[in-house]
Amino acid sequence: MTAPDGSFAALKQAIIARTGHDYYADKDRLLRDRLERRLTVTRAAGLPDYARLLHDPVAGAAEWAELEAEITIGETFFFRHAEQFAALKDVILPAIIAENQATRRIRIWSAGCAVGAEPYSVAILMERILGEALADWTIEIIGSDINHRCLTQAREGRFSGWALRGMTEAEKTRDFLPSPDGRHWHIDPRHQPRTRFMRHNLLSLLDGTSPPDVSDFDLILCRNVLIYFGPDQVPGMLSALADCLKPSGWLMVGHSDAVVGVPAALGVVQLPGTLAFRPPGCGTPAPLANPPPPVEWPAFTVEKPARRVPARLPQPEPVAVDPVPIPAIRALADLGALDEATAACAAAIVVHPLDHRLHFYDGVIAQARGDIARAEAALRRAIYLRNDMVMAYYHLGLLLIDGTAREAGRRMMEQVITLCAALPPSAILPESDHLRPGDLRGLVGQRLRPVGMP
Ligand SMILES: C[S@@+](CC[C@H](N)C(=O)[O-])C[C@H]1O[C@@H](n2cnc3c(N)ncnc32)[C@H](O)[C@@H]1O
Repeated sequence: MTAPDGSFAALKQAIIARTGHDYYADKDRLLRDRLERRLTVTRAAGLPDYARLLHDPVAGAAEWAELEAEITIGETFFFRHAEQFAALKDVILPAIIAENQATRRIRIWSAGCAVGAEPYSVAILMERILGEALADWTIEIIGSDINHRCLTQAREGRFSGWALRGMTEAEKTRDFLPSPDGRHWHIDPRHQPRTRFMRHNLLSLLDGTSPPDVSDFDLILCRNVLIYFGPDQVPGMLSALADCLKPSGWLMVGHSDAVVGVPAALGVVQLPGTLAFRPPGCGTPAPLANPPPPVEWPAFTVEKPARRVPARLPQPEPVAVDPVPIPAIRALADLGALDEATAACAAAIVVHPLDHRLHFYDGVIAQARGDIARAEAALRRAIYLRNDMVMAYYHLGLLLIDGTAREAGRRMMEQVITLCAALPPSAILPESDHLRPGDLRGLVGQRLRPVGMP
């Protein structure tokens, strides 16, 4: 891209101001790459030409929507962060149900829902909890996102096996229908009437342009979204989300969201393995029979709202220290491009044949594509190369339990328990999407029961 730096700097500033994506403040190369794709599609002659298109009174809004879809990162999967879903199942949703017995209405918002795995996970959970009584309730689960392409996929309800990773075949067939090509899963249509999707920019909460019906929620999930925002924006965003809650509502953010200031409008509730926020004074639910161990959440610090967040220091462009293209492979898989992810994995294995992570991803992606023989061989190779790779044992265990080798699968799971016991409780398990040993032990327990709750 041969653009004068002034054009790029102005465009970058406009993008960050419009989307909140301070994430790009120190990632010029990545942003230029994303912009390049839009320049190619729109046949713009260069960045100044493209900036004119964005300002065009007729075509500008549509191009902004495409650019927003290009630059946002929609990684998601079902029942992501097991400990947060355990807290939803055991504490938060039962408390909301008890609170709303009189009206039998519940409003839930998944803010930054990507392709919809999060709101559909909540819909599934609601059915599990309420059972037949679900028919007597009006449950409204709204998924919103700035990325219109994600929302199209969310409304369709079609997912690759990668978005269902970690779920057993029994769990999948309970809530999804396999597609005729055998490579995708469609959310069971019985879950769709309770979910609705809409385009919504979270920044509109700050400038008063958010629609008035984005309010009165019993629960807001805004997980793994604030991580892209600037640290000085997060407290304001949390306050704005608090304003959208009912007085007794709940807010949950992701473990990776760097919450550096909790506004006065919110109190912190400690739950097993995670935290939630509620307006202060609305009380915490009845004490648990087994109180949770203290939560370790390094990014989380409580501050007085008035305290100034230090300005971000200029950061150098990150230097790639890992020559193995794991993030690129994961990004392809997250987009559902499983053939391309498999090809990228295979190419990387040629260059780095002894990298256990590549064989692990080769296995998990093959599993998502339904290629069980390749998945088993690749996961066994990962374990051979790294005999303490706990996530490889876990996925191989799942695969064997789902197949005809239940006893061998059970032995794999025993190995998972042994490896977890040797690790510090606060360790994040490599290639696990932020699981800690205790979380994984809980998942193993569920998997070994005949039909487990995800
Ligand atoms: C990493 S995904 C998280 C998906 C889901 N919440 C989860 O945790 O699995 C982040 C999502 O936030 C959306 N997002 C980012 N900035 C946004 C904004 N300003 N307004 C609304 N959505 C936004 C992105 O488009 C993306 O789909």
